[in-house]
Amino acid sequence: MRKIRLGVLGSGSGSNFQALLDASQSGTLDAQIVLVLSDVVGAGILERARNANIPTGLIDCRGCTSKFPLEAQQETAGTLKKAAVDLVCLAGFMRMIKSPLLEAFPGRIINIHPSLLPAFPGLEAWKQALDAGVAETGCTVHYVDAGMDSGEIILQAAVPVLTDDTATTLHARIQLQEHRIYPLAVNIIAATIP
Ligand code: GAR
Repeated sequence: MRKIRLGVLGSGSGSNFQALLDASQSGTLDAQIVLVLSDVVGAGILERARNANIPTGLIDCRGCTSKFPLEAQQETAGTLKKAAVDLVCLAGFMRMIKSPLLEAFPGRIINIHPSLLPAFPGLEAWKQALDAGVAETGCTVHYVDAGMDSGEIILQAAVPVLTDDTATTLHARIQLQEHRIYPLAVNIIAATIP
């Protein structure tokens, strides 16, 4: 069976990208990472990719701090297509994906989010969970649609909230689960791609 080709988009440190890369290098991922793109110059994810000799690129968001301009989405779709990417994995990518990119990869963009969706969509979901006083939170891998963390759920893992948890300790424990389930979710989808 051929390995599907992954493009990974991230804005931050890239620990989820690293988990995918580690799984790929250890032979437990039914996919190969062929391209890493970031909207943040100097993001850790780019450095991790360069260290692994994976091609990288910068997404030019035309000076917009939070929006993902349509031209930038079109360019990104073109770059991913040129690299013959089968599946786009968002790994800490902090801009909302809209139609140009969604249309270019229908049903082929997935995201990892640090809560048990549909609870706590949006930013800093682990802080939202802490503030809400819930006993349990977790993480979710889901398909990306035009909404905010609203697409169909692929896989979830629960994480207990401990009485002495801080935002930092809770996010760190959620991330351990993210790193475990993201490669599993990619394998579930890889099995459906010819
Ligand atoms: C992860 O916890 C991921 O779930 C979250 O950003 C972090 C990125 O960490 N994503 C979102 O909140 C998206 N809504 P990483 O750069 O170390 O993978």
